[in-house]
Amino acid sequence: MKPSERLDRIPPYIFAEIDKKIDEAKAKGYDIISLGIGDPDTPTFPHIVKSMHESIDDASTHNYPPYQGTKDFRKACADWMKNRYNADLNSESEVLALIGSKEGIAHVFLAFVDPGDITLVPDPAYPVYRNATVLAGGTPYFMPIGPENNYLPDLDKIPEEIAQKAKIIFLNYPNNPTGAVATLEYFKKVLEFAKKYNILICHDQAYCEMTYDGYVAPSFFELEGAKEHCLEFFSHSKTYNMTGWRIGWVAGGEKLMKSLSVIKNNIDSGAFKAIQNAGIVALKTPKSEIDKLNDIYKRRRDVMVQGLRELGWQIETPKATFYMWLPVPQGMTSVEFVEIMLEKAHLVVPPGTGYGDKGEGFFRIALTVEEDKLNEALQRMKKAGITYNMIKEAV
Ligand code: MLT
Repeated sequence: MKPSERLDRIPPYIFAEIDKKIDEAKAKGYDIISLGIGDPDTPTFPHIVKSMHESIDDASTHNYPPYQGTKDFRKACADWMKNRYNADLNSESEVLALIGSKEGIAHVFLAFVDPGDITLVPDPAYPVYRNATVLAGGTPYFMPIGPENNYLPDLDKIPEEIAQKAKIIFLNYPNNPTGAVATLEYFKKVLEFAKKYNILICHDQAYCEMTYDGYVAPSFFELEGAKEHCLEFFSHSKTYNMTGWRIGWVAGGEKLMKSLSVIKNNIDSGAFKAIQNAGIVALKTPKSEIDKLNDIYKRRRDVMVQGLRELGWQIETPKATFYMWLPVPQGMTSVEFVEIMLEKAHLVVPPGTGYGDKGEGFFRIALTVEEDKLNEALQRMKKAGITYNMIKEAV
């Protein structure tokens, strides 16, 4: 059976490929340390697991959930938004439950993009923004982000004819894969741009609570008049260590929500009610618990920043996310470097090119292993002669 042509336009999914590499390396007997996928290594908070145990015993959670999410779940999301951003969202019409934010992010393109439409996608970026555009028949216009623009798309560099045709601008701050952050001032500019060209802002907020050193990540909903132009996608995955549970939500204006609902109602039947109940409990997690988790990542970040500086990398300390985005040594490609990391140090890191062409020359580290493993990773690099100033042939 010949698969659809649209599949030819989608590259292999980076983390599925990395899983294959890990399996191959393990089969060779390598003792792998994976700094690959951003999957928290500590368990879901116990109060959330406990609530799931209770909910699953309640037979009323076993049948189909409401398509838009349970009333209680949506209310908890709206309350969270009020508490966190002082944003007023109607839980009945301006919040939808998602089966993980990735589900909503992929489906929003089917709701707003027609064949031939353009979407504005950062490069590098989480691959779903690009690939879901292509699956919807659209064409991504890549907005380069790098050290030269503080990893924030330069809206003034988007050609007029592209802006005129664009339907969606996708952003994600705090940012995967670069760890960069944005200010509310920047969001204001994006909102003005979106209003001028009638473009939907989609903002992936997966890392909004994973911040350090007093930095607090803003929301578009802190801005007057954002709702009609913006959807923000929130995820329980990274904040509460719930990647496997598949639960998140999207917030935004009623009309936008209705369009996304049409797609979702025809494709999925909502998230398991017991998981939504546990999701409500998650949203009520005391800030002190989130702070404790962030302290763990912060300590790991500091170990890695110091260790990598000693190996020659001149890096700034990221203020958010559990990612570090680093240049590969001179004279080699991203893929060559990650192969050296795997073969010589048995370390798994994704190549920057997994996030777009502009990722060439970079690799990403996820701080998802304990400090002693990070120290061991640094030792392995040192022992294998992997430094920023290394010469490819020397290792
Ligand atoms: C990543 O490592 O980029 C993310 O964990 C992938 C995801 O959230 O789907």
